[in-house]
Amino acid sequence: MNLFDVYPLFDVNIVKGEGCKVWDEKGQEYLDLYGGHAVISVGHAHPKYVKAISEQVAKLGFYSNSVINDLQRQLAQKLGEACGYEDYSLFLINSGAEANENALKLASFTNGRTRVLSFEKAFHGRTSLAVEVTNNPKIIAPINANNHVTYLPINDLDAFAKEIKKGDVCAVIIECIQGVGGIRMVTPEFLKGLRQLCDETDTVLICDEIQCGYGRSGKFFAHQHLGVKPDMITVAKGIANGYPMSAVLISPKFKPVYGQLGTTFGGNHLGCAAALSVLEIMKEEKLVENAAEVGAYLMSEIRKINSPKIVEVRGQGLMIGIELSEPYKEIRTKLVKELHVFTGCSGTHVLRLLPPLCLTKAQVDEFIKRFKACL
Ligand SMILES: Cc1ncc(COP(=O)(O)O)c(C=O)c1O
Repeated sequence: MNLFDVYPLFDVNIVKGEGCKVWDEKGQEYLDLYGGHAVISVGHAHPKYVKAISEQVAKLGFYSNSVINDLQRQLAQKLGEACGYEDYSLFLINSGAEANENALKLASFTNGRTRVLSFEKAFHGRTSLAVEVTNNPKIIAPINANNHVTYLPINDLDAFAKEIKKGDVCAVIIECIQGVGGIRMVTPEFLKGLRQLCDETDTVLICDEIQCGYGRSGKFFAHQHLGVKPDMITVAKGIANGYPMSAVLISPKFKPVYGQLGTTFGGNHLGCAAALSVLEIMKEEKLVENAAEVGAYLMSEIRKINSPKIVEVRGQGLMIGIELSEPYKEIRTKLVKELHVFTGCSGTHVLRLLPPLCLTKAQVDEFIKRFKACL
C-alpha cells in the first residue's frame, strides 16, 4: 500500500530530537524554528516528559470516559491555575479541528442558532464545520459548504457590527494572532468591540488559541494581551508536546448536558500524563516568560538585518512572521538543505517561526547567522 499523497514533502527523514534540535537518519543536525508546526512546546524528548509518559503507558495507557479518570481532574485544575481560568470547565478531545467542532456545536446547542462569523485568512481545521469556518475555498469540499459562515475582515469593527446586529449569529470564532493567515494580529480595540457586541446579541465568542496559545505569544493565551475574556477557548498543538490532544475551555455560563458532547479517545490517561508533564515543565522552566523574552530578542535581531528581501516582521513571543519581497520557497529550501534550519511558512511570501518555547538566545544568534547567509 502507498501513502495517500497529500503532503508536499522535504526530502528529509527526521528520526531524533532534543530541545530545539532535530537530527535526520544520516546524523545531520538541524535547528528547529518550526517546532513540528507549533506542536513542540517544552522541547523534543524532554527527559521529564519522556519519564512521565513512559511510566504512564507502563501502568495504564487508556481506559474509557465511562469511569473516573483522576488525571483529567488534575489536568483541569493545573491548566486552570496556569492560564488563569480556574472557573472555566475543560472538555478534552484529540485534535485542533475537533476542539473547534465541539466549541461551535456547544454554542449552537446553547443559543439554538446556526450562523457563524469568521474572518478573512482564518484557519480553524479541516473537518466539517471547522473547515467551513476556515477561509480557504480550496479545502472546503462541497459537502462542507453549508452556508453557515460569513467571513469578515479582521480589525474592521464597523463591518462586524453591521453583520452581528442582524441578531441571528450563533458564534464568532477568531485567532487573536492568525497563524496560517500569515501572523496577522488582532487589535485590542477590535477584540473589545467583539466582546461587547457578542454580549449585546447573545452571541458566543470563541478564541481559537490552537496555534497562538499555550504560552507561544509570551502570555498563556494570545487574547490575554488584548484584555478580553472569550466564552470558549480552544487549544491543541503544544498542550501535550506532540501527543495528539486538544481541549475546549468553557465558561461557567454553559451548562453541561449528559451525552451532548463525547469522544472515545479524548482525555485518555496517556494524553493527560503528557499534558500534565507539559504544564509542570512550563512552570519549572518558566517557558511562557522565556517565549516573551527570547521572542522579543528574536524579533529585534531579525529587524536589525539590513536586507531588501525583508519587507516586514510581525508577531508576538515565539510566533513570528517574516514577510519577504519574494516567494519564500527558495530561501526556506536553502535554510533546510544547506543551512540546516527548519522554519514554517504562510501563503507565498511569509516565513513563519514557531520554535519550541525553550529556544535560547544563543540559538537565536545561530539562526540569525544562518538566515543572513541565505538572504
Ligand atoms: C489556529 C488553528 N486552528 C485549528 C487548527 C487545526 O488543528 P488540527 O490540525 O490539530 O486539527 C490549526 C492547525 O494548524 C490552527 O493553526
